[in-house]
Amino acid sequence: MPNLSGKHISYWIDSTPTTNFSPLSNNLSVDVAIVGAGIAGITAATLLKRAGKTVAVIESQQISTGVSGHTTAKVTSLHQLIYADLIKNHGEEKARIYAQSNQAAIEFVAKTVAEEQIDCDFSRQSAYTFAETQENLSDIEKEVEAALKLGLPATFVRQTSLTFPIAGAIKFDNQAQFHSRKYLLHLIKQIPGNGSYVFENTKVEKVEENNLCQVTTNRGIIQAQDVIVTTNIPITDEGLFFAKTYPKRSYIIGARIAEDNAPQGMYIGTGEKYYSIRTTPDKDGLLLLVGGGGHKVGTVENTEEKYLDLENYTRSRFDIESIDYRWSTQDFVSFDKVPYVGKLTPLSKHTFVATGFSLWGMTQGTLSGMILADSILGIKNPAADLYDATRATPFASPEGIKKNLEVGTHWIGDRLKGLGKSLVDVAVGEGQLVTVDGDKVAAYRDETGEIHAVSAVCPHLGCVVAWNSGEKSWDCPCHGSRFSCNGEILHGPTVKELKKF
Ligand SMILES: Cc1cc2nc3c(=O)[nH]c(=O)nc-3n(C[C@H](O)[C@H](O)[C@H](O)COP(=O)(O)OP(=O)(O)OC[C@H]3O[C@@H](n4cnc5c(N)ncnc54)[C@H](O)[C@@H]3O)c2cc1C
Ligand code: FES
Repeated sequence: MPNLSGKHISYWIDSTPTTNFSPLSNNLSVDVAIVGAGIAGITAATLLKRAGKTVAVIESQQISTGVSGHTTAKVTSLHQLIYADLIKNHGEEKARIYAQSNQAAIEFVAKTVAEEQIDCDFSRQSAYTFAETQENLSDIEKEVEAALKLGLPATFVRQTSLTFPIAGAIKFDNQAQFHSRKYLLHLIKQIPGNGSYVFENTKVEKVEENNLCQVTTNRGIIQAQDVIVTTNIPITDEGLFFAKTYPKRSYIIGARIAEDNAPQGMYIGTGEKYYSIRTTPDKDGLLLLVGGGGHKVGTVENTEEKYLDLENYTRSRFDIESIDYRWSTQDFVSFDKVPYVGKLTPLSKHTFVATGFSLWGMTQGTLSGMILADSILGIKNPAADLYDATRATPFASPEGIKKNLEVGTHWIGDRLKGLGKSLVDVAVGEGQLVTVDGDKVAAYRDETGEIHAVSAVCPHLGCVVAWNSGEKSWDCPCHGSRFSCNGEILHGPTVKELKKF
C-alpha cells in the first residue's frame, strides 16, 4: 500500500467541535419532520422554524458529517460548464431560472451570514472554469456567451492568478466560499426549543404518508404533517431517484501554502481529467484545497491512486509546504443536470425530497431548502416548476441509458466475482470478495490479521459491493450505497446494513 500524505479526515470536520444532540427517546409529533442534516435539510429546517413551524431534524449520524461536511464548499452558480447545455436541452427560460435560483442561493447564504454574524470564513470570491489547452477553449467561449445571455456576471479571461498558464477561462464575479460546517453548526443550534428538536444517531427506516405522516426510526416514531427527506439520495425508494441519478465519488487534499504562493479565487478545470482548486484560511495560515479524480462509486478499487494523483498534481503546480489533509465524498449527478426538488411521487401530498445536486449542492442544497420550505408554507416559488422532482425524466437520455445498463451489468456480472476464492486468500490490509459455503462474502483482513466478513450482497436492491482501498469500505456500484468493513451504513440509499458473517 502506498504511503499517503495528510490526516485522513475532512478539514471541515477536523476544525470544528463534534456535536452531541441526543437520539430520539420518545415518540413525538411535530409540524415537519426533516430526515438528514446536511445543507438541504438544515436550510429547510431553519426557514420553517423561522416561519413558526415546529420541526424535528433526524440525523442517522452526526450533523453535517455527510457530503456537506466533506465538500469543497464553493458557493457559486458557475457549475463548471452548464449554461450552454441547459439552453440547448431545456431552453433559455428554464436555464435562466436555474441561473437565477443559484444566484439567489448565494445571496441567501451571504445574507444569513451577515444577519446572524456567522463566523464561517465566508468571503466573496470570483469563480473560474478554465481550459488549459486550446482543445476545450471553444466550450469556455460558448459558456461565456450562454451565461451572458442569461444575465450572469460572466467574462472571458486569459489571465488568472493560477501559477500555471491557461488557454482561457470563464470568470463569474461576486461568488463566495465558506466553511460549510461552521455555517451549518451555527444554523442547527437555533432549531431545538419551542416544540422543535434535533436528533442525532437516529436512523430513519421508513416514511409513510397517511392522514398524518409517520417517520419510523430505529429509536421510535415521529408523526408530522409534512416530511422532507434530504438524505442526499432519498432513502425512500418510491420516487426511483436512484435510477434518475448516478453516484459520483471524488477526492480532496488540503495542502499548506504560503499566502504569496496561493491563487486567488475558486477554480475548476475542464476536459476528461479536471481539478477543483480553492484556498481556505485555517488557524495556521492558509490551506490549498485541490479536488479531483471523480468516478462512479464502486467502479475503482485502488482509490489510493486517486490521492496520489492529487498529490502529484498539486506538488507539480503549486509551491506547497506540506499535505495536511485528504478525504473523499460523493454526490448524486442528475441525468438531465437539474436537481430533483419537490414531492416524492405524483401521488405524494406531504412527502418531499431533494437530490441530484451534481456536486454543486452548496447552492443547489440551499435553494432546495428554500423551495421545500416555500412548498410547505404555501408560498409560490418561481423555481419550483423547473426542479419539480416528479417531472418526466430522461431515463431515455444517452447518459441515463448507459448508467442504468451499467447497473444491470453489475447486477449480473459481479455475481461471478470472488468465485473460487476463500478467506485464506485475503491478505492483511486487503478486502476481497470470497465464497464461503456457497455465499458471496465481502471479507477484509485488518492489520492485526483479524477477518471482518459481511455479506457481499447490497441490501438495497441486491447488487454485489466492491472494495474501496483508500477508504477501507464496501461500495455498491449500482446506486452508491457504502458500508464500513463491518457492514455499517456509510451512505444511502440503503437503510439496511450488510449482514455480518
Ligand atoms: C468532492 C466533492 C466536492 C464538492 N464541492 C462542492 C463545492 O465546492 N460547491 C458546491 O456547491 N457543492 C459541492 N459539492 C456538492 C455538495 O457538497 C453536496 O451536493 C451537498 O453537500 C449535499 O448536501 P445534502 O444535504 O444533500 O447531503 P448530506 O450533506 O450528505 O446530508 C444528508 C444527511 O442525511 C443523513 N442520512 C442518510 N440516511 C439517513 C437516514 N436513514 N436517517 C437519517 N439521516 C440519514 C446523512 O448522515 C447526512 O448527514 C461537492 C461534492 C463532492 C462529492
Ligand atoms: S445501492 Fe442499490 S443495489 Fe446497492
